[in-house]
Amino acid sequence: MYELTFAETIAVQSLPCSQALQARFHKAIPGGSHTYAKGDDQFPAWFTAYMTHGHGCHVWDADGNRYIEYGAGLRSVTLGHAYEPVLEAIRQELPRGVNFGRPAVIELEAAERLLALVPGAEMVKFGKNGSDATSGAVWLARAYTGRDKVAICGDQPFFSIHEWFIGTTAIDAGVPKAISDLTLKFGYNDIGSLQRLFSEHPGQIACVVMEAEREVPPAPGYLQAVRDLCTRQGALLVFDEIVAGFRYHIAGGQGIHGVVPDLSAFGKALGNGFSISALLGKREFMRLGGLDHTDKDRVFLLSTTYGAEYHHLAAAMAVMDIYTEHDVPAALRQKGARLRRQVAKSVAEFGLQAQVPLMGRDECFFYGSRDEAGHPSQGYRTLFLQETLRRGLIMPSMIVNYSHTDADLDETAEKVHEALYIYRRALDEGLDKYLIGRPVQSVYRRRNG
Ligand SMILES: Cc1ncc(COP(=O)(O)O)c(C=O)c1O
Repeated sequence: MYELTFAETIAVQSLPCSQALQARFHKAIPGGSHTYAKGDDQFPAWFTAYMTHGHGCHVWDADGNRYIEYGAGLRSVTLGHAYEPVLEAIRQELPRGVNFGRPAVIELEAAERLLALVPGAEMVKFGKNGSDATSGAVWLARAYTGRDKVAICGDQPFFSIHEWFIGTTAIDAGVPKAISDLTLKFGYNDIGSLQRLFSEHPGQIACVVMEAEREVPPAPGYLQAVRDLCTRQGALLVFDEIVAGFRYHIAGGQGIHGVVPDLSAFGKALGNGFSISALLGKREFMRLGGLDHTDKDRVFLLSTTYGAEYHHLAAAMAVMDIYTEHDVPAALRQKGARLRRQVAKSVAEFGLQAQVPLMGRDECFFYGSRDEAGHPSQGYRTLFLQETLRRGLIMPSMIVNYSHTDADLDETAEKVHEALYIYRRALDEGLDKYLIGRPVQSVYRRRNG
């Protein structure tokens, strides 16, 4: 474990129950967390909090401390924790059984509901994780085109836990080079870089995988140019809508920008944190996972034990009901914009525009943390996390959910203001004077230590 400084020791004393759990977590679970983004190395060393429960936008740790949380459930919980209408739908479904030997009617109901919400998609298969859906898309595209290579947007951080993507990151141990070499990267809003890939690998690229929009909006005509290029080159266009779907718009980036992909992947918000994902697409491609076609080989398309397990389908149907009745994406945008305005005011007041840029769409915004020279700094990120955590905010991003009230957002803005004041002082007087313990680290690093 990490060596604690005197200041850290004081902080740790306020989390005695969590502190007592830490060694057990690390003994039982590699890295002490089932998800790297939640791991100890992503937070200040003294912040050992383990959570016991959550409600709305709040979570409580093992010592009974309450936090306002942002980016909940790795951005999957868009409505709020323990959101009653979703829980009620699950309660209704549970006594009816969760998994039969033949398809259940709810599988069809959920499929038809989702297809009705995503124009351009004609068929769907459900999975459990977003990675199931993106990897299923890549597999299907390879089978359809008979090509092996995949072009991914290199400016976007994550597409799958599977080898075709993880092999392109620094934490690629265990991925054969022959597999990593099949994935190529192009730049966002840079149609020339994608054109070059197609020229350098003629007739070899099965699909282009990207989020339609992430940090910056697409330049006018960019997505349509990608669409046209894929069509001309005989490659499938795959939109990863795992963050955007049911957050930016029910139908994700394609819903906002009106460009129809061949295949798309949904997850996260679709189940409000319950485990469900979906691969959607045009019949021409999806049918290869079916039983009727004789013109092409059969594709083993997302067939898993739990893909259609019923209480998570019930959760997704409740989510779809709520989004149909209420414009949740507009509410998220409005809440995000409110918080962003207040944070931007504090950033300006302390002259931190170059150090703490606010990026992304209002409904999905996050901050940068840079040093005096404007270079990305894990030390300053840690300082900001430290100062917000000490004030009861869990804030790896500033991503709101539907349960954040104006009062929660105003309380947050006040605390962020105080945290930014410390950030300013650290810039003026030295980071070491204010930072407690070691900096956080990137998940994507080859070695520990
Ligand atoms: C854009 C994007 N695509 C795919 C994934 C993978 O989804 P999952 O973690 O559910 O497998 C993530 C997860 O964070 C993501 O953010």
